[in-house]
Amino acid sequence: MKSEENMESKGVSRRQMMIGTGVLAAGAAMAHLGGLLKTVEAKEGPTEKWPWPYEKLDPAKTAEIAYEEWYRVFCGAAVINSVVSQLREKVGEPYTSFPVDSFVFLEGGMVGWGMTCGSNTGAAIIANLIIGPRIAGSTAGHQISEDMFQWYSEASMPVFVPKNPKVTTELVKTTADSPLCHVSVGKWMKASGFPIGSPERKDRCARVAASNAYHLVELLNAWKDGKYEPTSSHAPVKEYGITAQMNCMECHGDDVPAAPMAKK
Ligand code: HEC
Repeated sequence: MKSEENMESKGVSRRQMMIGTGVLAAGAAMAHLGGLLKTVEAKEGPTEKWPWPYEKLDPAKTAEIAYEEWYRVFCGAAVINSVVSQLREKVGEPYTSFPVDSFVFLEGGMVGWGMTCGSNTGAAIIANLIIGPRIAGSTAGHQISEDMFQWYSEASMPVFVPKNPKVTTELVKTTADSPLCHVSVGKWMKASGFPIGSPERKDRCARVAASNAYHLVELLNAWKDGKYEPTSSHAPVKEYGITAQMNCMECHGDDVPAAPMAKK
């Protein structure tokens, strides 16, 4: 007890001192290693540079990859990997380190909550990865996300027909008028009569992912060529004082509420 008290009164024990020196030495080594790591990272690391480099891709090939990937990782990750897998080959890092499969949760409008269709979220993630966020000066990444949502909402889905479809019966096409999974899948199921677990519904969603991958690459290629023109004029906050899709009456009927506006 006594010696312990002694040591305590001195503040540090010999053992602690030794650990301390060890830690210091290790710390110095780590700092050195850290320096080395930094130089490596600056050259090819995943976090140093953003946005990431882009090489033009073939839309049809990308769509085929997305279609196949849907059956492995579902809509969001399928769209993401349709682009990332090809850029791994063409560019290498940072795409090689990008954990594509971590985006499986986008499935079903995020883990089955029917929010934004994963094909849209996946496309938005890729656009922002490659072009950068609007806080970084370029608004094109944000704009391409908007264009994708708008295009998806208005398209007669599924647009893309794969070369070797897993379901060969002709699939009904529907227009969602919404980027939401719940609304998009719901309208299609109502029109087709197929339930959520049917091979037809699954193939419909695989083709939707493929359709999105196709259009996303069209937009990215145009952007790469300096020819990209935004098409969406979606501005609900400015016009109505609330975040929304623009077809207010589909949910609210004739009685669309007015949001409280800032006092002038
Ligand atoms: C996908 C369906 C959907 C669409 C489309 C939609 N809303 Fe809503 N909105 C809702 C729901 C559900 C609520 C919650 C309603 C409540 O609690 O009364 C809501 C709430 C609101 C509210 C605040 C709550 C209230 O009732 O006053 C406002 C304001 C509003 N919406 C305006 C709009 C406007 C304007 C548009 C079009 C630009 C729009 N909404 C489009 C579903 C929708």
